[in-house]
Amino acid sequence: MIDEIRAARDAALSQIEAAGSLQEVAELDARLLGKQGQLAGFKRQLGALATIDEKKAAGQAVNDAMESVSGALRRRTADLGNAALAAQVAAERLDLTEYAGRPTRGHAHLVTQAWERLEDVFVGLGFRIAEGPEVESDWHNFEALNMVEGHPARGEFDTLFVDHAAEGEQPGRVLLRTHTSPVQIRTMLEQEPPIYIVAPGRVFRRDTPDATHMPVFHQIEGLVVDRGITMADLAGTIEAFTKAFFGSDFSSRLRPSYFPFTEPSAEFDVQRPDGSWLELGGCGMVHPNVLRAGGLDPEVWSGFAFGFGIDRMAVMRHDVADIRDMYTNDLRFIEQF
Ligand code: PHE
Repeated sequence: MIDEIRAARDAALSQIEAAGSLQEVAELDARLLGKQGQLAGFKRQLGALATIDEKKAAGQAVNDAMESVSGALRRRTADLGNAALAAQVAAERLDLTEYAGRPTRGHAHLVTQAWERLEDVFVGLGFRIAEGPEVESDWHNFEALNMVEGHPARGEFDTLFVDHAAEGEQPGRVLLRTHTSPVQIRTMLEQEPPIYIVAPGRVFRRDTPDATHMPVFHQIEGLVVDRGITMADLAGTIEAFTKAFFGSDFSSRLRPSYFPFTEPSAEFDVQRPDGSWLELGGCGMVHPNVLRAGGLDPEVWSGFAFGFGIDRMAVMRHDVADIRDMYTNDLRFIEQF
């Protein structure tokens, strides 16, 4: 009988091993360990055995068999449960480290970047930011800057006039400012010296676009008016700016030039570390007529002014070959910066 019990146990164990679902295991549990099961049948037959020893040995064998069957059922249940859970977890897995795409964050235009850096540098040098309108009067743009009607220097500014006449004004006196210098006049009329301002802004000239020119571009104007300001202050400011903006291995020089609104006038150039020069802008001592137009006495006040192109600085900083590329909004270009 013991052999039969063991054979029944082994058969039960292999059925349990083969069970593929929790439901099958539950059915096997009822069948193998239930009252109608084979092992229960052996139990009932124990009484028919001849000796106490035989009963003992067979009873022990049935108990052992039932124990290993119920142990196997528990393990199989646990295994199948784990597998089902693992399958569900795998199926519902959410990879929280995964992202669908890069966030598309843009950046400021090259000119805006240069504009803001210039403001930072000049504010760091103690300047205040000033502004003026893009649509300007002839008086602010030319006359007050010592360029009276018919002054030949007006010819250098290919001016775009606006078809608008203020009340009581002749047509042709309103224009798109050709430079940021009219902000000098507006500032002097607005505030008492000492004046230390920079005025970045958009300017317009009737120019055909090419690799180095655009009809709309940007300048930054500087104006200082105080007591006892000299050309040395101008040169020192230009040099301090050059080092702050470009780096300590850059330097600057002034070259004699002419502007109607400064006397003496100069061009200022910046020298790159490789020794080459870049012409950056114009500057000079504010002309007495300009101080007068701004309501200031040239015997009391003196000052210097400078102006240069922002687009040009952006072009130089990023080695852009054609200034027009900055305005065509071609993503292949824009995304490089
Ligand atoms: N306004 C001049 C220009 O556009 C530059 C300049 C500004 C020169 C201030 C001297 C002083 O060319």
